[in-house]
Amino acid sequence: MHVLGVDIGGSGIKGAPVDLARGDLAEERFKVLTPHPATPDAVAESVREVVDSFGWSGRPVGVTFPGVVTSGTTRTAANVDKSWIDVDTAALLGARLGSPVTVVNDADAAGIAEMTFGAGRGRTGTVILLTFGTGIGSAVFIGGRLVPNTELGHLELGGHEAEKRASTKAKDDHDLSWHSWAHRVQKYLAHLEMLFSPELFVIGGGVSRKASKFLPLIEGLKAEIVPAQLLNNAGIVGAAMAARSAMAARPATADRSAIRDSAAAPTAVAGFAD
Ligand code: BGC
Repeated sequence: MHVLGVDIGGSGIKGAPVDLARGDLAEERFKVLTPHPATPDAVAESVREVVDSFGWSGRPVGVTFPGVVTSGTTRTAANVDKSWIDVDTAALLGARLGSPVTVVNDADAAGIAEMTFGAGRGRTGTVILLTFGTGIGSAVFIGGRLVPNTELGHLELGGHEAEKRASTKAKDDHDLSWHSWAHRVQKYLAHLEMLFSPELFVIGGGVSRKASKFLPLIEGLKAEIVPAQLLNNAGIVGAAMAARSAMAARPATADRSAIRDSAAAPTAVAGFAD
């Protein structure tokens, strides 16, 4: 089965139909630059461009968003235009695309994909996936089930918001060496370990491609730490999986113009592969 996944990021909006049996893109992805200002209306138009490029209409679409998403409504906007707060994004996109749309937090989407097809496959204890980029995203799994919208990047650490100190943007902004940045990430992971005692940390985001530069510098944690495996496509794959899951949970009579759903839809990892 194929479902279209779209990943909304700060620099690009990319999407592709996803083969849910393989957890991989069924076609080459299509990407447009994120409009500026990235208002809901402008972004909706870009999402439409991506979706239209696949001639995809009337069929389910999953979309990631870099903020809290509950019942299809975007609730926070730490690194995006503040006009997204309290927008019924599932309805907005559903109307624009003429397709049922499921909206899910970007890190939750990446986590869903990694738990089924990547680094977290078969892991049943507490697993924390973190995405390092402009901010820090988090996805927490317990017994293979997602606890949505955990937002652990906003924890305070040493008087600062963790994502302001340890995101890859912070590394670039402050011109930190791999060593100094890894030291900050280590402190952050140690804090998370104290709170959650996970068995595994999965490190995602673009920086996961450079894991050999910093993972060996992170020491002293009990949990295993591994890089994500799906790299750039985790968000697209996870968005499509969330859309399929919402579709399965939806009563047959539900309005097809918009699914008021989010990652809170059933997320048992075993339920995702098709
Ligand atoms: C947002 C999260 C998001 C993360 C990564 C944070 O600033 O609050 O919702 O997952 O950035 O994009």
